[in-house]
Amino acid sequence: MTAPTPLIAGNWKMNGLSASLAEAEAIARGVGDCPGRVAICPPAVLTHQMAEALSGTRVLVGGQDAHWDDFGAFTGDISAEMLADVGAKLVILGHSERREGYRETDEIVAKKAQAALRAGLEPIVCVGETLAQRKAGEALAVVTGQVRGSLPPELAGQAFSVAYEPVWAIGTGLTPTTPEIEEVHRAIRATLVEMFGEAGRAPPILYGGSVKPGNAAEILHADEVGGALVGGASLKAADFLAIVQAL
Ligand code: 13P
Repeated sequence: MTAPTPLIAGNWKMNGLSASLAEAEAIARGVGDCPGRVAICPPAVLTHQMAEALSGTRVLVGGQDAHWDDFGAFTGDISAEMLADVGAKLVILGHSERREGYRETDEIVAKKAQAALRAGLEPIVCVGETLAQRKAGEALAVVTGQVRGSLPPELAGQAFSVAYEPVWAIGTGLTPTTPEIEEVHRAIRATLVEMFGEAGRAPPILYGGSVKPGNAAEILHADEVGGALVGGASLKAADFLAIVQAL
């Protein structure tokens, strides 16, 4: 089986106003012929405008979360179908900021992935251990457990990716060593193959957590790293493009 097509996705989190669309347009102008796919996941309210601004470019637009139901009485929530309706192609699910801040369990994340598939969105399912779990030697068990619990069987043969984001590396400037990243990514791959057979070799496994222009090349060329989920450094076109160009 050929290597998964890499994906570099920018997670803008709760950052960006309509003026920030210019940054997204600058990213689209700069991606050139990079060998992977590139996506930006803006705050939900910018999805429509960004999808229109980037239509006809190589940059895809994604959501940062979606509800597990298709519609209904869920004040403040957004369904996967709504994101797809305004031009999103992907959606981040189970980010640690949602697992921690909104008590999202593996079971909830799996239901959200099913909803994303129903809407035709490609899920990017996030997993990752806390510092305490890493210090206790539990990183591999935690991460592979999250993979098993958060990926529903319906993903078999579908386009999706897994993002390994150690909680302690997010927004901190800290990153695991390359061998530590490879160890976790290989364990995720083995779990995907266990769950989905040979089809489990197709999804790219992204790394996320303090990816910057200065460390992107080493991380992106590590074994079983199939791209990156980038937070802070995706907000500035020059930084994000430097990461894309490190592919
Ligand atoms: P930073 O790149 O800002 O560390 O954030 C990573 C992340 O959480 C992407 O989803």
